[in-house]
Amino acid sequence: MVEQRFIRESRTFKASHVLPPDTNNHNTLFGGKLMAHIDDVAALAAMKHARGPVVTASTDSVDFLQPIKVDYEVSLEAFVTWTHNTSMEVFVKIVAEELNTGTRAVCATSFLTFVAIGPNGRPTNVPKVVPETNEELFLHQSAAERAEARQQRRIRSKQLADLLGTRRPWEPID
Ligand SMILES: CC(C)(COP(=O)(O)OP(=O)(O)OC[C@H]1O[C@@H](n2cnc3c(N)ncnc32)[C@H](O)[C@@H]1OP(=O)(O)O)[C@@H](O)C(=O)NCCC(=O)NCCS
Repeated sequence: MVEQRFIRESRTFKASHVLPPDTNNHNTLFGGKLMAHIDDVAALAAMKHARGPVVTASTDSVDFLQPIKVDYEVSLEAFVTWTHNTSMEVFVKIVAEELNTGTRAVCATSFLTFVAIGPNGRPTNVPKVVPETNEELFLHQSAAERAEARQQRRIRSKQLADLLGTRRPWEPID
């Protein structure tokens, strides 16, 4: 396995024209459609870093800062910001552009975690990631704190799943 890769080696871009089938009654892009774009571009970035299959382990909050209007371009930029053993943090920046004027706005940002999967179907180690630019260094240096918060959230999610169980509302309580 390669020991390390630069952040720039995983940078991935994706752009789409926002058209009516993907918009809601406000004539803006469906939140669910944007989340699908985010997962798609982030997975590509993670695969470029791992050079193998990955799964999405978690998505941190997606903050919808501005609506993305019909007939705008929506573009997404994703790259691996941090790695641990088998997991990778991916940052996604979403920019909307009004195509007649070129006016742009950052409409959302998101952090996701992907895990590399080996031939045996289990998590497998990934190369360390190396930041170069100021933006990359900022995101890399702040990542350990986000990862710790994620671990705490994972524990709470497991506790909640155990508490709620799988019983349907109409099924009898044992
Ligand atoms: C993610 C998954 C592979 C983790 O497997 P696991 O057997 O729990 O393995 P581990 O507990 O050893 O965790 C492996 C790594 O994942 C990380 N991880 C697991 N769950 C996580 C979460 N919710 N958020 C962030 N990181 C997570 C761990 O921190 C660990 O990272 P490290 O090796 O860098 O330290 C497993 O939970 C899974 O397959 N989940 C479903 C994934 C899925 O279906 N995604 C949607 C479609 S792609």
